[in-house]
Amino acid sequence: MSVTTSPTDAGLAGSSGPEVPTVVSSWNEWDPLEEVVVGRADGACFDPAEPGYRPQIRGPRAPGETFPVGPKSAETIRRANEELDNLSALLADRGIVVRRPDVVNFDHPLRTPEFDVPTQYCSVCPRDVVITLGRQVLEATMSRRARYFEYLPYRRLIRDYWNRDPRMIWTAAPKPSMADDMYREEFWELTQEERFARMHEFEFCVGQEEPVFDAADMTRMGRDVFVQESMTTNRPGIAWLRRELEPRGLRVHPVHFPLDFFPSHIDCTFVPLRPGLVLTNPDRPIKDEDATFFTKNDWRFLDAPEASSTNDEMPKYCQSSRWLSMNVLSISPDTIICEDSEVGVHRLLRAEGFEVITVPFRNVYEFGGSLHCATWDVRRTGECADYFP
Ligand code: ARG
Repeated sequence: MSVTTSPTDAGLAGSSGPEVPTVVSSWNEWDPLEEVVVGRADGACFDPAEPGYRPQIRGPRAPGETFPVGPKSAETIRRANEELDNLSALLADRGIVVRRPDVVNFDHPLRTPEFDVPTQYCSVCPRDVVITLGRQVLEATMSRRARYFEYLPYRRLIRDYWNRDPRMIWTAAPKPSMADDMYREEFWELTQEERFARMHEFEFCVGQEEPVFDAADMTRMGRDVFVQESMTTNRPGIAWLRRELEPRGLRVHPVHFPLDFFPSHIDCTFVPLRPGLVLTNPDRPIKDEDATFFTKNDWRFLDAPEASSTNDEMPKYCQSSRWLSMNVLSISPDTIICEDSEVGVHRLLRAEGFEVITVPFRNVYEFGGSLHCATWDVRRTGECADYFP
């Protein structure tokens, strides 16, 4: 495949001379990682039910047992923090600068003019909330009420980056109302047959009036940014991203995975590993029309192997699928961090020539994700390149 360095870097270089240190710069998911934010579990609550969300208990359930509301137990939080701290130490050992969000107590009801929720959620998954696009740090609109203020634990870090890096662009997307009529609650009542019949409509629990997106529905491949239409990102959300990013020289591409009936966040579905190679989810093939762009530019899709657990074997309160197995974190184009138990993924990536580092992370799963979700890369070596010339 051919790669060219894009004029975008020149466009964004700005007025400052070479003596100004670069703090924020990350164009893709694989270049050598230099600085990263790792989430923390302190203060976390169970994700409350709301129009855009219906949490379910996994596996066996006692009669009448319902999904808990309120703070997670101290022990659950301690175990997740142990794994998050361990990941942080491993990254630091490799010479990567690791920063952590503020400790926030999410056990507070929220009330705005349009809605209220009994608690907020957590700060384990910065990936969902904030994204680095070159020299820009962009805070997502978010799609769920309990996550409306989830940018707050990261604001001290964002301000620090902004103060230290005069070329950093700081943008917060407009907050949606999250009023009742922003959502389509009938989505939750559809039968499997109805979902199958409508799979090409890409209509989920969020309507199409207000721009809505979570940062984790995006994946970055140099000049090209791919955004999944999902339960957490709607078409106006993608249009907003296009108008925001295309004047900066990026190209925004909506992508679709019709067989995922509950799509949310692209990083268990379509995970670029290095130029020309994407880890794909065999249960959720990309729509043919979207695939063409990759294949005609000589990209290859590598199907993830079966995960180490079934969906029912995932932690009881985990709302993500077993495909957290493929939620890997690249720290360079040939080094990838994977969850300890996901031996199928380790084997596959080693066969592709990657160095695989493994860490325990299953105690983080019920906080919304695995290694990619729980991190936000602030700086990676490298420039903006065009991998789809
Ligand atoms: N919806 C995805 C799945 O269950 C989980 C995505 C988690 N990603 C994240 N960035 N929180 O397959």
